[in-house]
Amino acid sequence: MIKIRQHNKTDIPFRVAWLNNPKANRFIGDMSGRKTTLRAQRQWFDNYLKDKSKKFFTICDDKTPVGFMGLTKIDQVRRNADLFIIIGEDKYRGRGFGKLAMLYLIDYGFKKLKLHKMYLGVYKENKQALKLYKKLGFKVEGILKDETIAGGKFHDLLFMAIFNKGDKKI
Ligand SMILES: CC(C)(COP(=O)(O)OP(=O)(O)OC[C@H]1O[C@@H](n2cnc3c(N)ncnc32)[C@H](O)[C@@H]1OP(=O)(O)O)[C@@H](O)C(=O)NCCC(=O)NCCS
Repeated sequence: MIKIRQHNKTDIPFRVAWLNNPKANRFIGDMSGRKTTLRAQRQWFDNYLKDKSKKFFTICDDKTPVGFMGLTKIDQVRRNADLFIIIGEDKYRGRGFGKLAMLYLIDYGFKKLKLHKMYLGVYKENKQALKLYKKLGFKVEGILKDETIAGGKFHDLLFMAIFNKGDKKI
């Protein structure tokens, strides 16, 4: 059963494995075709602990970590944030974990952080992610042409966003 918990230091080796997994990273903006290291992820985690503009969670199947997700660029003035998710374990993709995890994160962003808007960038070819985001209520705000490079090719990036409906207060 899906469980969401705080992202913690024990997740560092999983971050390395998942971010380096070609099946999981092929549509991830700054990872596709590149490798990360334990050292780089330890550094990332140290910075993360000091950084108020980021909030990450680990997605588990009971106690087994299967992926992570989070918000970056949390802006308390504009009340928006950038959203990210990866189900790193191959056998857990397409089984509903992504959808449930995203519902948790959206709820966290709107209710706990009182955000007005959450946004993300997704490769046009990432059909699985696009379908999920549309289902959850994200709408395309724009397309950046040839924004990223992966597999020796340029790729368009769709920018999508979801709004806290009914929240008009500044
Ligand atoms: C994108 C991702 C987070 C989706 O999570 P997931 O657990 O695989 O997806 P779910 O099983 O929750 O499925 C959610 C919806 O996606 C769609 N979907 C799932 N598997 C699919 C597939 N193989 N092909 C097309 N659509 C698919 C379905 O519409 C599904 O909804 P439904 O079951 O109600 O019909 C996950 O696949 C992933 O981590 N991919 C690699 C990293 C990545 O691309 N991250 C996103 C960067 S923008």
